[in-house]
Amino acid sequence: MAKSTGSSEFDLYRPSEEHDMLRDAVRSLAEAKIGPHAAAVDEEARFPQEALDALTASDLHAVHVPEQYGGTGADALATVIVIEEVARVCASSSLIPAVNKLGSLPLILSGSEELKTKYLGPLAKGDAMFSYCLSEPDAGSDAAGMKTRAVRDGDSYVLNGVKRWITNAGVSEYYTVMAVTDPGKRSKGISAFVVEKSDPGVSFGAPEKKLGIKGSPTREVYLDNVRIPADRMIGAEGTGFATAMQTLDHTRVTIAAQALGIAQGALDYAKGYVQERKQFGKPIAEFQGVQFMLADMAMKLEAARQLTYAAAAKSERVDSDLTFFGAAAKCYASDAAMEITTDAVQLLGGYGYTRDYPVERMMRDAKITQIYEGTNQVQRIVMARNLPK
Ligand code: CAA
Repeated sequence: MAKSTGSSEFDLYRPSEEHDMLRDAVRSLAEAKIGPHAAAVDEEARFPQEALDALTASDLHAVHVPEQYGGTGADALATVIVIEEVARVCASSSLIPAVNKLGSLPLILSGSEELKTKYLGPLAKGDAMFSYCLSEPDAGSDAAGMKTRAVRDGDSYVLNGVKRWITNAGVSEYYTVMAVTDPGKRSKGISAFVVEKSDPGVSFGAPEKKLGIKGSPTREVYLDNVRIPADRMIGAEGTGFATAMQTLDHTRVTIAAQALGIAQGALDYAKGYVQERKQFGKPIAEFQGVQFMLADMAMKLEAARQLTYAAAAKSERVDSDLTFFGAAAKCYASDAAMEITTDAVQLLGGYGYTRDYPVERMMRDAKITQIYEGTNQVQRIVMARNLPK
């Protein structure tokens, strides 16, 4: 039985003081340097360069990179906190630390020392960003149905195909590309590679015209006879699909973090608004119907946060039930964020429906968290196949 040992019981089941200090620091930076540009980034559908500059200057652009490769070596919960606080003011900007982790995690999990040293150093320094190329026009939820081919030719592989919905495509210098090396073997015939933007034969489609996260470019990546050295393969041939899935086990937690941040931003804004807005002679915050809505929003958000932080701890420890928890946190937090942001628009009434207030952007941004890194229907498949024992 765990015994009370004086004041230390207060440290049970809560983030450490360092985590709390990190949150305060990221919140200040995000409010000062990222939030003020969020509306324009959305309106103009432009890359949030101010956010990249501010995050890089404070070493917050890729906090997950281990210290031995020049990174800050933040743990999974610290990474969640960074993404959450950036998403609270600008969801598009939070895709910088999130997708840097997604793109480089296959390398961290399964790459050779040489590859890690070569590619993680520039990422840690802020000289390069990383993207993750799994999906294709006809292979979304059925990721193993991909068609992109990688054919061995002497000391090289030659890649041909189209990757779709690639976050930060064109801006990133490096791409982890999953491609078929043995077409007869479905998931066991898929391998992972590092492709560089400057490799001859790499090009990009037009930016997708999206409902939300408009500041984060989403483009196709075309691979037209892209010849790369064979040692750019991540792990052994045929292990690319398992690496891709293991990666998502960890990074679905970061999408949960993004959802938490978006929802917190909407709740904070709505909470302030209802105290200012007067109808029937008093602030609408004094009506019980409004109070009930705020209570439900805060309750859902806190439940999502607890699940996400538990999943982050499992990600850090690489617990055997991480697959379930990663999917559950992403699914639950994104559904909560959709409800909370929709309620925030409702609390602002007609004003909430206009672009003069930030909550409609937050509602549009929340929607993608139910779709990417696996739709919430796929998360339920993953959970059902990995129910806790
Ligand atoms: N860890 C390790 N290995 C795993 C694994 C995991 N979490 N999940 C599956 N595998 C292995 C399996 O063990 C299996 O190997 P065996 O045959 O040896 O057992 C192999 O991979 C195939 O697994 P499945 O049979 O489960 O594969 P499936 O074809 O039925 O697909 C799926 C399963 C869960 C539906 C999967 O395809 C999936 O997750 N689809 C969604 C894809 C997705 O999330 N895409 C997101 C793109 S990234 C993105 O959105 C980024 C962005 O923009 C920010």
